[in-house]
Amino acid sequence: MNEVTVSSPATVANVVCGFDILGFALAEPCDSFTVRKTGRRGVTIINKDNYNLPTEPEKNVSGVALLALLNEVKEEIGFEIESNKIIKPGSGIGSSAASAAGVVVAANHLLGNRFSQEQLVEFAMCGEEVASGAKHADNIAPCIYGGITLIRSLNPLDIVSIPAPELFVTVIHPQIEVKTSDARQILKRNVSLKNAITQWANVAGLIAGLMKSDYELIGRSLEDVIVEPVRSILIPGFDELKTRSKEAGALGGGISGSGPSVFMLSRELKTAQQVEVAMKEVYAKIGVEFHTHVSVISKQGVQVKTKKG
Ligand code: HSE
Repeated sequence: MNEVTVSSPATVANVVCGFDILGFALAEPCDSFTVRKTGRRGVTIINKDNYNLPTEPEKNVSGVALLALLNEVKEEIGFEIESNKIIKPGSGIGSSAASAAGVVVAANHLLGNRFSQEQLVEFAMCGEEVASGAKHADNIAPCIYGGITLIRSLNPLDIVSIPAPELFVTVIHPQIEVKTSDARQILKRNVSLKNAITQWANVAGLIAGLMKSDYELIGRSLEDVIVEPVRSILIPGFDELKTRSKEAGALGGGISGSGPSVFMLSRELKTAQQVEVAMKEVYAKIGVEFHTHVSVISKQGVQVKTKKG
């Protein structure tokens, strides 16, 4: 086989209280990447989308991820990536993770699936580091594994898939760019013991709520006293989005990844659609362009769509 096309999903990292340790995959939007095996060592990138991302592999998230994978390959081969991205870079729904994870899963397929999912996460994280200036797997892991994942430890890598009931997700993506590296820079370096206790109680509550299908507990646990108070100032109308979404029936939610997207979880599709209406009303008043998505937490990560050769 010489060519594989994959669909790589958007992801929501942090899930409010789990900064850098929790994330989930969305059913949509998804990026598409075609990866071809070549006879030359190295990576070539062809952009078929309009995002003008760098084509030098060392400066490109997908390129760096594939170079990390190639480092572990003895054969004299390389890869060509054809990028058809939908997920806008800087959106907060895992655009860079979709790029890094999508191409390593595709390349692994071309190599007879010789690498484990954990190894693929390691390669993809090298790409993610280019975008955010730090290694974190809370978008990469759900993008590869699907569902909700907990990254208990990065070194050594310890990824835990969390069982959960069906949940609907409403995302609003204000058309402003927040660079993850900037959104990380502004965070305080220390947290008080009081806030740490609240935060780890919420993380434990959220995991227990998901595993017990206790929707009330999930809702109560979607609280972030550490990161959200700092980052939410970058998102126009954040407080109103939250208030109006909860009034419309959302269980709760907050900033998706490092923003500017905001997500809300709902128990029913109908509620998620009502939340979308409420979010649109808030943003119509603010006058900032936006997109919305209603999706489910997807059990699937990167999917191979077509194979050739
Ligand atoms: N955990 C990361 C952050 C996710 O919040 O900076 C970035 O998408």
